[in-house]
Amino acid sequence: MTSILLTGISELWTLDPELDDPASPGTVTDDQLRHDAALVIDDGIVAWSGPAAETPPTDQRVDLGGRAVLPGWVDSHSHLIFDGDRAAEFEARMAGEAYAAGGIGVTTSATRSATDDRLRALVRGRIAEAVAGGTTTLETKTGYGLTVEHELRAARLASELVREGELDEATFLGAHLVPAEFDGREGRPGAEDYVALVTGEMLFAVAPHVRWIDVFCEEGAFDPEQSERVLRAGAEAGLGLRVHGNQLGRSGGVALAAGLGAASVDHVNHLSAADVEALAATASRPTRPATSSGSPAAAPGSTVISPGCADVPGRLAVDAGPTVATVLPACDLSTRAPLAPARDLLDAGAAVAIASNCNPGTSYTSSMSFCVATAVLQMRLSLAEAIHAATRGGALALRRGDVGHLAVGARADLHVLDAPAAIHLAYRPGMPLTHEVWRAGVPQRPALLSHLLR
Ligand code: NIG
Repeated sequence: MTSILLTGISELWTLDPELDDPASPGTVTDDQLRHDAALVIDDGIVAWSGPAAETPPTDQRVDLGGRAVLPGWVDSHSHLIFDGDRAAEFEARMAGEAYAAGGIGVTTSATRSATDDRLRALVRGRIAEAVAGGTTTLETKTGYGLTVEHELRAARLASELVREGELDEATFLGAHLVPAEFDGREGRPGAEDYVALVTGEMLFAVAPHVRWIDVFCEEGAFDPEQSERVLRAGAEAGLGLRVHGNQLGRSGGVALAAGLGAASVDHVNHLSAADVEALAATASRPTRPATSSGSPAAAPGSTVISPGCADVPGRLAVDAGPTVATVLPACDLSTRAPLAPARDLLDAGAAVAIASNCNPGTSYTSSMSFCVATAVLQMRLSLAEAIHAATRGGALALRRGDVGHLAVGARADLHVLDAPAAIHLAYRPGMPLTHEVWRAGVPQRPALLSHLLR
């Protein structure tokens, strides 16, 4: 590969981890933001950055014309594997209906009916939309299949897309909802039978294709005791832990996630002071490099099934580090929920990420720029805190050291703004400010696949 010099960078947000100030975690230091800068990419990796006046020789040069450059967004929470939309449910909500977990069943029916080819095309179209908005690292989940066959199909699709370099992380969310056929009526199996399926046959089938297990710990979905069983089974199978918690009420999901050392607890709308403290108390837990398989070492007597999918340089161990509080601003707006207390979490010292939660029920957008603008305008984060949460925060929530920053050695994932300064993201919310996106040193041509979504 040739080396490329990028010049004409008015602001370069390197967010170099080596330059973190331990006294102010969750924000950006002066040294992590360069003005009038240049950057060299070699073989898909950031090879150098520094003052524009001191550039080294390279094979090619690209002038970015005085634009701001950020690391690509790291979207650590999405549900892209689905068919159908729920516009009518959304409209009813805007007319005063409350969101309830049961809507997941509507999407599950539509998703089960989709052909493999259609589902793949839908997911690829959604990835293209996310990339067009500056996202360069993307996690997605199963969770709209809820049978062994359909969860396995979704997990295989996700892991294929990870191998093909379109997605970055895949998560098993069989514990998204107890499906209708497990309603316990008229001799049908009940919720406990479904938990046994998720923690048994379904997990065994899906685990080789994913790196993470997630559970929707909420009234109407899974209670804390069931959620704990799901997570412990996932950990035994070698998966890292994630939790949907405290979205609709004080569900116990946060305490569970912090207690089990989950990498992330997402939503976090309804928090007690003890929940905030529990998350902050995890912030000092150190991360650890992954073992060669990318999974935790097997404890004696455990039944590790899965090392996750292919090894990726830059992956950290899934079972070491803080429990990141992941806030989902677009979801909060779309469900008219109380905004997650991101300000309080940061002030308490918790690690915070911002993600899109793109899904057809509660947040049908993958626009991380919109989420960042909302965090600044509505959640009282500074621009630097919001950018940190949507890049380094997401990377920590996914236990990735190679993305979310532009230090030397990072994957060359660049979000070039059509603006001289990143503050325009909040100052001009909703405007098309993504000028170019580079992933692993390659400029992306956002395929206009939106017709596939219709
Ligand atoms: O993260 N909360 C649970 N899961 C999704 C919503 C899924 C749906 O309603 O379809 C979420 O918001």
